[in-house]
Amino acid sequence: MVSVFIPKEAPEGERRVAATPDTVKKMAAKGLKIVVQSGAGSGSHVSDEQFKEAGAEIESDRAKGLANADIVLQINIPTEEQIGQMKEGSSLISFLWAFEHLDLVKLLNERKISMFAMDAIPRTTRAQKDDALSSQASLAGYKAVLVAANHLHKILPMMMTPAGTIKPARFVIIGVGVAGLQAIATAKRLGAIVEATDPRPETKEQAESLGGKFLEVQGVEVKKGEGGYAAEQTEEYKQAQAEMLKKAFANADAIITTALIPYKKAPTTITAEHVKSMRPGSVIIDLAAERGGNCALTEPGKTVVKEGVTIVGDLNWPSTVAVNSSDMYAKNVQNIVFDAMDKQGNFKWDYKDEIVDGAMVCHAGEVHHPKVRELMGLPPLKKEEEKPAEAPKPAEAAPAATEEKK
Ligand code: NAI
Repeated sequence: MVSVFIPKEAPEGERRVAATPDTVKKMAAKGLKIVVQSGAGSGSHVSDEQFKEAGAEIESDRAKGLANADIVLQINIPTEEQIGQMKEGSSLISFLWAFEHLDLVKLLNERKISMFAMDAIPRTTRAQKDDALSSQASLAGYKAVLVAANHLHKILPMMMTPAGTIKPARFVIIGVGVAGLQAIATAKRLGAIVEATDPRPETKEQAESLGGKFLEVQGVEVKKGEGGYAAEQTEEYKQAQAEMLKKAFANADAIITTALIPYKKAPTTITAEHVKSMRPGSVIIDLAAERGGNCALTEPGKTVVKEGVTIVGDLNWPSTVAVNSSDMYAKNVQNIVFDAMDKQGNFKWDYKDEIVDGAMVCHAGEVHHPKVRELMGLPPLKKEEEKPAEAPKPAEAAPAATEEKK
């Protein structure tokens, strides 16, 4: 029987969990043995009892749970200690950000762990049900608007009263990806006037369809990125964008900035000069804080007031709405597990599946991801070397945990 372990997420303050009673029930019904670490659901208000009722076993010994699992489902990147505790040849489905954690890739590969990286899933239509970058970013975009509204000492909608008319608040959204689109929709729903910008020209129509006004950088070349992502723009573009945004920023009550470029530090879209020009009492929510921030004055992990402007550099926004983000993430990973199972309940990664091919960082003792290979100084893989995994054999405990048990 293939066993799946869901550990309690390790980082302090993380509220999310990679399974819910619903996904446990569905995975158990497919013949998988589900083991959940005791307390794993507490941040999302799911008790051990609820997981048990759904068909999971509860394991209080994390190391034992890891050592006995064929598949580990989690959200945050693994620690070196965790990798050492996992069973050789098992699978880990988790975020990894491999380019920044080549040391972890090396360790995972040495232990022949199949590492399916949630951050490397291709952004295709078929992969939408697996796409945790989107499921989590969408919630972050929503929450950012609420936090901005909460910091403002004013309301968002227009209000006509006998005592006079209140003007609607003005929001500027920088970056019209998944988070940005949700921020536009949420701010509009709450009654704000919304302006938005993004270097990708296709986002104009998307922003407008949600009621946002699109601010377009005119007269400069826009560099196009790969796979639907943005590319780092030229100095000329950056200057033209900064100039164009001056007026919008000076009139804004709130800016939600979400601009990211794959594998790069977040671009600066709000300069110190911009902040200086903003109204006292206005708010910047920097959703890119985790990658250095879009605002030059953001302090990642902190909320600061500079030039009378509140700049929120909070990290891990999805965790603040853990009930929903856990639910969505759990469904994302459940879909990935189910797609790798056949009708008999065997679990096997198949590289013919473009999602597996794109997201598998290492597998069966071989680094699979071409870009990660390049960064590790490994030659490109020949096609015949990319053999699919055998179904994992149940319960061969990893040496470290076996020692602990004795
Ligand atoms: P992201 O999180 O990597 O970046 C956020 C946004 O920032 C992007 O829209 C990007 O164009 C923008 N940006 C970058 N530099 C900027 C700058 N200097 N100024 C302003 N904005 C800037 O993007 P996300 O949300 O992960 O989406 C990436 C792409 O994937 C998009 O094309 C999106 O439409 C696509 N996508 C496709 C899906 C599918 O078909 N299944 C699912 C989700 C996303």
